[in-house]
Amino acid sequence: MNPERPIPTHVPVLIKETIEALAVRPGGRYIDCTLGGGGHAAAILDRSSPGGKLLGIDADPEAIEIARTRLEAYSNSVLLINENFVNLQAICIKYDFFPVHGILFDLGLSSLQLDSNVRGFSFQLDGPLDMRLNPSQEITAADIVNTSTEAELAHLIRTYGEEAHSRRIARHIVKERPIKTTLQLARTIERAVRGRRGRIHPATRTFQALRIAVNQELKHLEAVLKQAIDLLGFEGRLVVISYHSLEDRMVKQSMRQESMGCICPPGTPTCICEHTPSLRLVRKRVITPSPTEVQLNPRSRSAKLRAAERIITRDEYYNDEYYKTTERLCLSMEVETGGWRRPAILKRLQRAFSVV
Ligand SMILES: C[S@@+](CC[C@H](N)C(=O)[O-])C[C@H]1O[C@@H](n2cnc3c(N)ncnc32)[C@H](O)[C@@H]1O
Repeated sequence: MNPERPIPTHVPVLIKETIEALAVRPGGRYIDCTLGGGGHAAAILDRSSPGGKLLGIDADPEAIEIARTRLEAYSNSVLLINENFVNLQAICIKYDFFPVHGILFDLGLSSLQLDSNVRGFSFQLDGPLDMRLNPSQEITAADIVNTSTEAELAHLIRTYGEEAHSRRIARHIVKERPIKTTLQLARTIERAVRGRRGRIHPATRTFQALRIAVNQELKHLEAVLKQAIDLLGFEGRLVVISYHSLEDRMVKQSMRQESMGCICPPGTPTCICEHTPSLRLVRKRVITPSPTEVQLNPRSRSAKLRAAERIITRDEYYNDEYYKTTERLCLSMEVETGGWRRPAILKRLQRAFSVV
């Protein structure tokens, strides 16, 4: 980063509610899976001091550098990793960071990314049609826009953008190709839906759809929620803030399912699933920002926070669940990181779990 450039900022959303939902305590161990500008991370480190530790993850290398500067004062208590959170379990095993007292996901993009004219996330700034969280990813939004068939584009825009005019937009995009910049795409969409404007800018939903597709956001979220639950120690908390209905639906369903006993299909005469709940919902209802927060930070308006707590008993933890978790972690460790010998891993796991 250029040292002359002022450090850009992102205003963390639902900060007080997040710290409360995570039940942050001194000496606790936390993971911020979406580090961004480090705002939530700084608040967690403040509240978990003395002795707190934080593992911060972000797919965007620039976010890691910005957060590193912001969290300089806590450098002995943080470990920052530039990785996709879909690899959460492997990261925790590699860095010996589990079990943990709390895991946070503040999904989506930071203002640092949205306000950049070179990342291609904004339809209000002209820039290359990129949208990759990490520049080392292969596929950009331009690749998808310029190589997909009209039917594929319409499907993607409808599924990931929940856009009612998906077919009309796809048709105009195909006619206009090649499309290389964000403004060129935004203008094409404006022309496609002329006279049909709703409350939001007509390009909002298509840009959301492309971003989800480029970064495989829903696939990664689905995969990581299960991993996160396994990493939580006794009474550990999982907190997820989402910004659109597709993500929130996935989080809501996953937490609800994990908090239920039987998950057999309705009408099944006797339970055959043998499902045991692994979570307790901290609040039944979703938490949203207050009108004051929305006024101060309009980008918070669509935020939805959901929180759940791991509900294993200590006995279960040291018996069945402990060994199941150990087994699972050992296996994924062998698969993901290779080279670590099982007895050594088991010894480390036993040490780690005995401090729960
Ligand atoms: C809303 S911002 C987080 C802001 C942060 N809570 C703060 O207070 O500054 C979301 C961040 O998550 C990151 N992100 C999104 N999806 C990710 C993924 N699959 N893996 C890792 N990081 C991801 C983005 O790069 C972005 O920096």
